[in-house]
This record gives sequence, C-alpha cells and structure tokens, in this order.
Amino acid sequence: MVPDMTIDFPVVEVREGKARFFIPDPKVFGEAGRLPPSRAPVFYNPRMSLNRDLAVLFLKAYQIKAGRALKVCEPMAGCGVRGLRFALEVDGLERIVLNDLSPRAYELAKLNVKHNGLEGLISVENEDAHKLLCRYSSPRQRLDYVDLDPFGSPSPFLDSALRAVRSGGVLALTATDTAPLSGLHVKACMRKYLGKPLRVSYWREIAVRLLIGAALLSALRHDLAVNPLFSYGVDHYVRAYVEISRGAKEADKHLDYMGFILHCRNCLRREVKRGLTPFLPDRCGSCGSRLDYAGPLWLGRLVDKGFCEEMLRQVEGSTLENVKSTTKLIVRLIDEADAPLTYYVSDEVCERLKVPIPPINDIVSELNFRGYLSTRTHFHDRGFKTEASSETVLEVIKEIVEEKKV
Ligand SMILES: C[S@@+](CC[C@H](N)C(=O)[O-])C[C@H]1O[C@@H](n2cnc3c(N)ncnc32)[C@H](O)[C@@H]1O
Ligand SMILES: [Zn+2]
Repeated sequence: MVPDMTIDFPVVEVREGKARFFIPDPKVFGEAGRLPPSRAPVFYNPRMSLNRDLAVLFLKAYQIKAGRALKVCEPMAGCGVRGLRFALEVDGLERIVLNDLSPRAYELAKLNVKHNGLEGLISVENEDAHKLLCRYSSPRQRLDYVDLDPFGSPSPFLDSALRAVRSGGVLALTATDTAPLSGLHVKACMRKYLGKPLRVSYWREIAVRLLIGAALLSALRHDLAVNPLFSYGVDHYVRAYVEISRGAKEADKHLDYMGFILHCRNCLRREVKRGLTPFLPDRCGSCGSRLDYAGPLWLGRLVDKGFCEEMLRQVEGSTLENVKSTTKLIVRLIDEADAPLTYYVSDEVCERLKVPIPPINDIVSELNFRGYLSTRTHFHDRGFKTEASSETVLEVIKEIVEEKKV
C-alpha cells in the first residue's frame, strides 16, 4: 500500500507503544532489524523497542524532575517512531523536533506524524544534524532534551549536540559501534572516544564509561560538565543519558571523575587511577604480571539512584512494549548503583580455576555473607560486582564448588 504520493516505496503499518506508523515493507526489504540498514530505504529496528521504552520512561521521569514543559529534539529520527512515542506517551512536552538527512526518512516521518494527528506538537526537518543543532545553540534557543541515535558512534555529533542543550537539560546517546568499544578495533575507539578500550569480560562497562568520558571531554571544552542520570549496556549497544551543567568550576570538578582502569590478565586484579595524567604502573601489585589499561574514561556513577526509582514508578500505567525486561533492567541498575567499578563473569573465573560454574546467586550470597558488598550486574547474566579482591573471588568460588560439589 502507498498511503501518500511522497512515499516511493512499499510500506506497511506497524504498532509500537501507543504509536501506529508506517515502515518500509519487511516482505520487500527483508525482515526489519535483521538486515543491514542500507537495504531498507528508511531505518526501523523493532529490536530497539527496549531502548525506546526506556527513553519514554526516562523522559517521563525527567519531565517530573524538571517541572516544566520540555523542548525535545531527535536529530536522526529515521521513520520517527521515537518522537511519536514521546508525543503519545509522555506528558508535559511543549515541542518535538524530528529530523533526518535522508529525504525518504523525512517524508516517512512527516507522514507518520500526520497519521498520528501530531502536527501540532511535532515538526519534521530534513537537514544535516549539525546544521539543525546549530540553530538551537544560542542562549534561550537551547533544548531540554536531545536524543542522538545515529548509525554507529554518536561522537562526531557530540559538540553540536552539547551546544544545543540548555544547562540542566539532557543529552541522550546511543552507541552501536561495539567492535571499537569492546576492544576489537583499538584505534577506531581511540579516534572516536579519545580513550583506549580493553578486551576483557567486563568490556560493556568499559564501553559505557568510554562513551560518557567522550561526552565529558567534549563538554569540558565548552565549560560544561556532564552527569549521568541513567546509563546501561545491553545487546549490541550502550546508552547514556547525561545531564548538562554549565560553569568552569563545575567542569573543573569533573576532571577528577576521569581516569584509567588497569587490568591484570593473569590474576584478574583491577586497579583504578584517577585523573587525566596519572602515573600508570605497568606491573600488577599482586602477581607482578604486565598490566593492561583502559582510558581515559568516566570513573563516576553510571546512574542516579533516585532518578532510576522515579523511572520505575513510571512503569506503572505506561504502555511499554517490554514491561518485564525494562523493569528487570532498572531494578538491577538500582541494585548496582553504589557497587565498585568493573565486574567479574563467573564463566571466566571458573575457566581459570578449571571448575564447573556455580549458580550466580550462590556466588553473590556467599561473598555478601563473608562481608564483601556484592551484587549482580545488568551488564551480564552471569556477572557480579564485588568489594572482594580478585584473589578472594577466586578462593570463594573454588570453595563453593568444593563444598557444593557443583
Ligand atoms: C539508527 S537510525 C535512527 C533510528 C531512530 N532514532 C529510531 O529510534 O528508530 C540513524 C538515522 O540517522 C540518519 N542520519 C545519518 N547521518 C545523518 C546526519 N548527518 N544528519 C541527520 N541524519 C543523519 C540516517 O538517515 C538514519 O535514519
Ligand atoms: Zn596480577
């Protein structure tokens, strides 16, 4: 069906949250989300509905926190699903600006806005994201919330986006370039994020910290600071929602939240060094093996616990696609909000010990029982964060296996 003369490819109507909208027909262009996005004329990935559910909850909670009508912008909107969902599912939005460089995405997003009767609230533009954001970069023009959801890395757009967000506003970032961020392509990561990645079992946390670190490094040059309200890493992407604050003093303080994570591949020990130019030892303090490192990256908190609790309250009465997984993720983020940096994955520890893998809950309870604050992590189903040293972690797991004969 061609619902509009401006759309020159076959489309079908789908539903996500409260939005009903048109996407390129998966029967013609292959199943949406499974294909390289270049095959379909306009991008829509149903597998990112969890990402959009969380964005809806975030914006609901942020609107309550800000206590004012919000101006929202998605500079790379694809078919417009995210903006439609904001308009239909979040109260207290004054204006939503959707934009996409692709003329076909622009036409489809415009059609979808009309289809949902949202022309009064949403405007659609067809510009390069930099050019669009530049329009909002002077005082009193700035936006409350900018959501960057590009192909791959949001890094090239950080400067433009930061300049367009008001003080106290939020910049949301999705990065899907997990090959660089997980340490597979080290140089690509250093180019995009100005920090070295690390190919370790807890790479997802490193990736989130590199993304926030890159946002902060861009912000500092404008005398801005960033504070993560909500950030996580799942599937093939990492995501961060950072609140922007203006002022050189605030920015200076944030320099202390940057630093390095050192890792010993022999005994799994991790160390943290704060600052942009600390001395980095090259030998492990426990076993004397060579240390590898990640950074500079963000060493501060990944979420604001109170903010996450508000997001959780907003789940009730909402029309999310993935209520169970959204709730589970937020609960886990609250649980691990105060936990130490980095996590262990039981598979890796057990492989090292050459023992079977005990249930993750047994490991966490045993460590807590012995007085080491420990918790599971959303980053990995068999991952846990703990105050215990790597030596203790290895010992405790060995004992659990011996006692319980796993
Ligand atoms: C990952 S898709 C966006 C998906 C959308 N945010 C969603 O939730 O479904 C990235 C989009 O960015 C657009 N794009 C790429 N470069 C751009 C640029 N420089 N300015 C504006 N849009 C751009 C692409 O056309 C594509 O539609
Ligand atoms: Zn060591």
